[in-house]
Amino acid sequence: MKFERTRVLTGITTTGTPHLGNYVGAIRPTVQASRNLETEGFYFLADYHALIKCDEPSRIQRSTLEIAASWIASGLDPEQVTFYRQSDIPEIPELTWFLTCVSGKGLLNRAHAYKAATDKNHAAGHDTDADVTAGLFMYPVLMGADILMFKAHKVPVGRDQIQHIEMARDMAASFNHLYGEHFVLPEAVVEESVALLPGLDGRKMSKSYDNTIPLFAPSTQIRKQINAIVTDSRAPGEPKATEGSALFQIYQAFASADETAQLAKAFSEGIAWGDAKQMLFERVDREVAPMRATYEDLVQNPIQVEKILRAGAAKARIRSASFMAELRHAVGLRPLSAQLTAKNVKVSKAAAASFKQYREKDGQFYFKLVDPQGAIMLQSRGFTSPRDAGLAIGQLIENGISALLTLESQLETPPLALHMDISETLKLLREITKK
Ligand code: TRP
Repeated sequence: MKFERTRVLTGITTTGTPHLGNYVGAIRPTVQASRNLETEGFYFLADYHALIKCDEPSRIQRSTLEIAASWIASGLDPEQVTFYRQSDIPEIPELTWFLTCVSGKGLLNRAHAYKAATDKNHAAGHDTDADVTAGLFMYPVLMGADILMFKAHKVPVGRDQIQHIEMARDMAASFNHLYGEHFVLPEAVVEESVALLPGLDGRKMSKSYDNTIPLFAPSTQIRKQINAIVTDSRAPGEPKATEGSALFQIYQAFASADETAQLAKAFSEGIAWGDAKQMLFERVDREVAPMRATYEDLVQNPIQVEKILRAGAAKARIRSASFMAELRHAVGLRPLSAQLTAKNVKVSKAAAASFKQYREKDGQFYFKLVDPQGAIMLQSRGFTSPRDAGLAIGQLIENGISALLTLESQLETPPLALHMDISETLKLLREITKK
């Protein structure tokens, strides 16, 4: 049996600029986990999710760039893992619909995000669904599609997300029950040891409290913000409590056990708040500064980041496109020609599917893949020579869907039409031509 690595998958919604809390709570542990060769990592920018809470296009675009750059600068290796942008995977919204059709509406009524919104409306005496979009309501289904598409076993998330993973399990189980075993049932992984970082005011560091320290701000700004961390009014020389000190907790999240013990000692010996802040600044800067250069470089070269994401999407779609073809077949969205196979007619449709090469008025060379009934399954772009077109056909037969996606990712604009039945057809063609 082929050895199957445990698949780990997680996403970050692209609505903000990563801060130290995101780094300590999500980015750093994810990057560390991604180095475990016994697992296979899927990390993505959840930009479809961003549309649920953000209607500022430029902010979503900016955040996508910043989060991608932060992940890479923090050491995520796109060669080792599958690192992609959700909206580059058209199979995700398609799977969302399939899952919508097996999700109980009552189940969705109980989802935290939706319930919080309706509870608030009740409390304010408003209509239950006032200002609630169907996007917010459907959020757990989209998230289910993210997870189930790549058959993730483990999903590292914050505590608030556990319910969504449970719901994804429910959807997977319902679908499997109706249509056969297609989905893996995922499990949430909540890292207990990962620190919840306090923000400048001592509450949890969070965009919504406006108390964050951006991860890759220039060091002068980080210094300024660390100086703004709220402390008590104990004077230099007076012993200070580590318990409940935001400054101490942030230090601890970056420092070794030894360093932390030293700061605790300094606290009991009455270190001045100014000196403690200086220590914190130096400790944070020591970790962040080497990554900052890479981050700035990437943010200034969005085209490079775009390339990385597209390569990641091509890799992801090798799985999503063929899995979606399987699922479409499972639910009965099938080419009508498939009836022939059902009746055991001996002519395999793939055997009769064929490539046709031709030249257009523009002087370029094209090919198309047509099914036995003459329907176009795939239409190529133009090639400068018949040889190049022929090579592309050879690639398709040899490497199937991955070659298709490579061809596609080289194009700026409209991708090759990807008929969902193509992966099967190419597989069959390959078998036939190998014989
Ligand atoms: N909803 C998650 C959050 O807000 C982000 C997310 C979207 C996600 N899709 C996912 C996390 C799939 C894990 C798996 O944090």
